[in-house]
Amino acid sequence: MTVLQEVKYERRFSFFRNDNAFPILKWAGGKRQLLPVIHKNLPSEIHKGEITTYIEPFFGGGAVFFSLTNNFTFLSKTILDINKALMFFYKNLRDNVEPLIELLTDIQKTYDGLNDSEREEYYYSQRSIYNEEISCIYSQNTILDWLNPSARLLFLNKTGFNGLYRVNSSGEFNVPFGSYKNPKICDVSNLRASSKALEHTAIVHGDFELSINEIDHKSFVYLDPPYRPLSTTSSFNSYAKESFDDSDQIRLAEFCKSIDAIGAKFLLSNSDPKNIDPNDDFFDKLYRGFSIKRINARRNINSDGSGRGIVSELLIKNY
Ligand SMILES: C[S@@+](CC[C@H](N)C(=O)[O-])C[C@H]1O[C@@H](n2cnc3c(N)ncnc32)[C@H](O)[C@@H]1O
Repeated sequence: MTVLQEVKYERRFSFFRNDNAFPILKWAGGKRQLLPVIHKNLPSEIHKGEITTYIEPFFGGGAVFFSLTNNFTFLSKTILDINKALMFFYKNLRDNVEPLIELLTDIQKTYDGLNDSEREEYYYSQRSIYNEEISCIYSQNTILDWLNPSARLLFLNKTGFNGLYRVNSSGEFNVPFGSYKNPKICDVSNLRASSKALEHTAIVHGDFELSINEIDHKSFVYLDPPYRPLSTTSSFNSYAKESFDDSDQIRLAEFCKSIDAIGAKFLLSNSDPKNIDPNDDFFDKLYRGFSIKRINARRNINSDGSGRGIVSELLIKNY
């Protein structure tokens, strides 16, 4: 593309217009900054209105979902994630946005009235309550049971370190305090806009393979799994107590072959092992026969998130 074409392209798509939804949560590995390149790599059928179903099986903060919903209309949408608390947060956002806003308004007022050390104390007390609540209701599937933890999840996300959602081996949320100056915990207009974007969306908790039943030949599936770590010390990928290892990456490649066999379109992002070892062709072998593009992305390059650098990442698609 020439520079002029690029500018025209950027103008044609407003990923997050003022009155539109944008991702409500910060999320490790979130795709906000890759949206221009993701939009350029969408299947042409989406522009022609020929894609009727959108499926996102590794939802996290949903940057791609919200930007697509702002620009295209689908007859049905399904989002899925292995993180149960996260999926119940989105269910409450979709179905109970006003009660959620009420709870968050109270939290925001309380937090704004505290000094720095009181804020830190408040954070840790909310974190303990959250973990207790979650352990009591984990087997419950009634959306309202999850309303209070959903408000707390958003609070912890806005005030915890780097907006991470990290759990220990017993599933307890263990992210430390983030000491941000004036975090916007209750963004009423975006809560309402993202609630609207989630209308008529099936929100499913579970493993990505569950989404296969929703896919038909008019579907577009965007997959953003936990990245294969580039080294043992980099690349955060402990979103849930279940890890995502090479056997899951292999399972995912088989899943993508099933999507292809159905006649649906898929686009998948992942880390590029060639950043570390130019001879590592793990993904090149797994996705042989599909289009594999290497793109540049700004990423944390060490485990504490203190360093950023340009790394190559993969975009794999079947069109
Ligand atoms: C890289 S993040 C997705 C980020 C998202 N694209 C965004 O823009 O915020 C990967 C997500 O996959 C989820 N996940 C991990 N293992 C999974 C599995 N087996 N099935 C479904 N989701 C899974 C994690 O909980 C995490 O939210």
